Amino acid sequence: MKRSMETPPCSQDVKEEIVEAWYMNDSEKEDYRLPRHCEPKEFVSLEKLQELGVLTWSVHGDDYENEEDVKQIRESEGYSHSFMVDIHPERMPNFELMVKRFFLEHLHPHPEISYCIQGTGYHDVRDENDRWIRIAVKEGVMILLPAGIYHRFTLDTNNYLKAVLFSAGPPAEFSTYEGPCEDLPARKLYVEAFHKAMRR
Ligand code: LAC
Ligand code: NI
Repeated sequence: MKRSMETPPCSQDVKEEIVEAWYMNDSEKEDYRLPRHCEPKEFVSLEKLQELGVLTWSVHGDDYENEEDVKQIRESEGYSHSFMVDIHPERMPNFELMVKRFFLEHLHPHPEISYCIQGTGYHDVRDENDRWIRIAVKEGVMILLPAGIYHRFTLDTNNYLKAVLFSAGPPAEFSTYEGPCEDLPARKLYVEAFHKAMRR
């Protein structure tokens, strides 16, 4: 069984003040690069994110290669590759297309681990009731989205984020499934490990 399906480690160096998460409003009219808070605001704790299998770390001085928990996870997942993404209107080829693609709801049959080097952005994940939770990342934040969680990514109005992603192979080998994937083994395992555990 994959590491990501086990109980999340509780030794994370979590810094609540640098990672913020909240339930999004579902207004179709508001720009998705805006925070899209509910009224009143409905913040989500890091404990709640952990229940969903989403782990965060704050890393000092860009020392992301040596974050111990992440090192262990990378080892057990065979994540020997890392690569940089520079999501910037002038520097990323096909910027608008890529940004649209990142925002399509999808899942992976493996965990997605990224570290934000510079800039800001939002990882949105669905909770056990399919509500969108928005997780704001900025410089120094490492985040793991478990295999099988529905998610998407967007820049905020600062329009720039540079991150390192970790993987088992080059980006071309990433498996991404868009749209409903309830029958996918990775999705079933995720629901079993996290949603069912919540209801017990
Ligand atoms: C990815 C992000 C957008 O999979 O979730 O590249
Ligand atoms: Ni993804």
